Amino acid sequence: MQHSKVKAFPENFLWGASTSAYQVEGANLEDGKGPSCQDVKEVPEGTSDLSVCADHYHRYKEDIALMAEMGFKAYRFSISWSRILPKGTGEINPKGIEFYNNLIDECLKYGIEPIVTMFHFDMPAALDQRGSWSTRESVDWFVDFAKILFENFGDRVKYWLTINEQNMLTLVGSVIGTTTLPKGCENPLKEIYQQNHHMLVAQAKAMALCHEMLPKAKIGPAPNISVVYPESCKPEDTIAAQNANALRNWLYLDAYVYGIYNNIVWSWLEENDAVPDFAPGDEEILKNAHPDFIGFNYYNTASCKEGDDIEQGGAISQQENLGIKGFFKGVRNPYLKTTEFGWEIDPVGFRGTIREIYSRYHLPMLVTENGLGAYDKLTEDGKIHDPYRIEYLKQHIEQIQLAISDGCDMMGYCPWSAIDLISTHEGMVKRYGFIYVDRDEFDLKTMARYKKDSFYWYQRVIQTNGDDLSTQIE
Ligand code: BG6
Repeated sequence: MQHSKVKAFPENFLWGASTSAYQVEGANLEDGKGPSCQDVKEVPEGTSDLSVCADHYHRYKEDIALMAEMGFKAYRFSISWSRILPKGTGEINPKGIEFYNNLIDECLKYGIEPIVTMFHFDMPAALDQRGSWSTRESVDWFVDFAKILFENFGDRVKYWLTINEQNMLTLVGSVIGTTTLPKGCENPLKEIYQQNHHMLVAQAKAMALCHEMLPKAKIGPAPNISVVYPESCKPEDTIAAQNANALRNWLYLDAYVYGIYNNIVWSWLEENDAVPDFAPGDEEILKNAHPDFIGFNYYNTASCKEGDDIEQGGAISQQENLGIKGFFKGVRNPYLKTTEFGWEIDPVGFRGTIREIYSRYHLPMLVTENGLGAYDKLTEDGKIHDPYRIEYLKQHIEQIQLAISDGCDMMGYCPWSAIDLISTHEGMVKRYGFIYVDRDEFDLKTMARYKKDSFYWYQRVIQTNGDDLSTQIE
């Protein structure tokens, strides 16, 4: 649908960008921080470990000043659980509290709204050893951690996100380095969906607690949502796409918003002997969560068809699922271009995804990630020319505006990432930031910050509240 007149972005639209603790901070075992699962995992060959990252822990002042120069209204970052609680439970690390107090205050100094993710792929290693999300105790661990965050930071943080990409943790945990299954686990599928159930319950309890402790704050989930297209109009392909959508998207949002399990996924779990066990009261807990908004990450859409001839090997990244026998078969979309790292690019699918979410859930939406990973080059005169990123972001912002014109309620846009950081499994060379960090995969070089062309471009976008998306850079 075309609009004869597009609507403007709302006045208080939260323009900003995102990072996550384990990918950006570094200082991974400093000042009392305990290791997380990310610190003890075997990193993929040829990629950096997570000990230094962008060294945001030591350079946050410089980084926030640059975000302020870009005009950020919001900065979405995550809090490292094991920096606050080195063992995951028990004693609090005062230095951890101090760091996030400083980070939050630094944002507020410039009028930047902190948007805090409570959990972004970094389970404390000590809790992994105690069973991670497999044990029911994980619900209490997470809620206790949430309480500490609300007590210490709730006076200043108005926007909270519970679990980043719970759907990717469940679907492709091994790609991200987070899957932990108990030794000798006989039914991995059931175990994974039991872990998922614990996360659902944990985040629902955290939301209720937030509403009780911080009545003025807003809290929401942050799954990775993108619609899945059928390859053709063959009716069986549509059924396959509905299956894939249910498994990837609606299972999570139905549970977060309505407190119910999606029926298509539930039936599939039943048939595969993988239905999670409910503890008494779980149904009520799920129904009592009431998120204030939906945060979601969007990188691209997926496509599928019916088919049983699924290649072995499972998912190869967050954005590519080969399929599930008898349920759907993932296919490439011939209409879409791809990034240098093979991810399809689909701005129109962004609008479609926003419309779909809004028509199902009718809650305000915050884009918590979106962006382009590329091999950026620092020139001899200290420039980074990244027209491909500008083009990607421009096209996606245009689609948000169209979605707003379709009547969707959009709160803000926080692309990935504010600054270069380490990718989930493709190292430092896969850069997403507006701010370039002068380091290589293994050579830490100067760690100096440089403004990419996209930095200046985004600065103008924010200044004009999304009116001027033109791509020329002086
Ligand atoms: C999302 C994650 O899946 O995508 C981020 O929330 C991640 O942590 C981002 O970095 C980009 O993915 P990747 O694999 O390119 O780092």
